[in-house]
Amino acid sequence: MKFPKAINVYEVGPRDGLQNESVNLSASIKVKLINKLSECGFSSVESTSFVSPRWVPQMSDNAQVMKLIKRYKNINYPVLVPNDKGLEEALKSNIDTICIFSTSSESFSKKNTNSTVDESLRNLEKISTKALKLGVRVRGYISCVLGCPYEGKISFKDTRRIAKSLFDMGCYEISLGDTVGFGTPIESREMVEEVAKDIPIDKLAAHFHDTYGQALANLYSVIQSGITTIDSSVGGLGGCPYAKGAKGNVATEDVLYMLSGMGIETGINIKKVIDTAWFIFKQLGREPSSRLAFTKKNN
Ligand code: HMG
Ligand code: MG
Repeated sequence: MKFPKAINVYEVGPRDGLQNESVNLSASIKVKLINKLSECGFSSVESTSFVSPRWVPQMSDNAQVMKLIKRYKNINYPVLVPNDKGLEEALKSNIDTICIFSTSSESFSKKNTNSTVDESLRNLEKISTKALKLGVRVRGYISCVLGCPYEGKISFKDTRRIAKSLFDMGCYEISLGDTVGFGTPIESREMVEEVAKDIPIDKLAAHFHDTYGQALANLYSVIQSGITTIDSSVGGLGGCPYAKGAKGNVATEDVLYMLSGMGIETGINIKKVIDTAWFIFKQLGREPSSRLAFTKKNN
């Protein structure tokens, strides 16, 4: 079996985690969360989204959050952007990286962005061209790559086509999202290997949700295909407002525990991540959904 020496763990909690929360958190709590994550050793902390506040009110304090966080030189603070208006707003906040997003499912595309997949790709091309000209990095996301809550099974070939479009637009990395957590290990690997026919595997990231408890097994499987970037969320925060049934993203501390046990370096301080998980879940009035966070509770 072949495993990488090091893995880049990309933290999505403040954006992908909090976008679905019904508890109303203040901007200052979100800022504290991001600042704490910055001290854990991540090279990227996805911080907020500049989407329509009518669609996702939880992220409507985006500008305030970006203004108040402490930014470290060696850390990127990507933000999710769906359209030109979002890009314009994000640029006012002096962002370094935008994340654009499409999906392998037509039905999910309609629910998530009120557009067809091809309309979304045309729109994203305009945004990425503009961002790249301004020196802003662009990351691409594809949702529902292993199943859609409205359509069920998704063709890997469709995911491959969309990934290639995003890569050709200049995305430095494409994150493959199992948004509802339907995937299992062998198909996860087959999906990654299909997409990697067009895109170097070190430009792909794995983004799993733990709805059916498969996320770590899926990650174990895809890192053997050469994946070296993993998206995860502190404490297992998460879900997606337009993917009914989507539970949390895989918990960062659980991923770190697995990788550290396998001798794979991440450069991230697991104890600080667990402390951060307890911090944010205390604000939400419940316990972290990760397995590892309980080690702190029981100590
Ligand atoms: P629409 O309703 O078709 O667009 O939404 P619109 O142009 O008619 O705009 C509606 C209103 O929103 C207007 O305001 C616009 O000005 C405003 P009104 O005139 O009614 O007062 N508006 C904005 N305001 C601030 N910032 C903006 C913006 N855009 C419009 N950027 C739209 C189309 C794309 C805007 C909408 O569908 C949207 O915002 N969608 C985003 C939903 C979202 O954030 N979903 C979660 C993304 S996460 C994900 O997809 C999965 C991922 O996490 C990976 C995984 O977990 O697997 C990436
Ligand atoms: Mg997610």
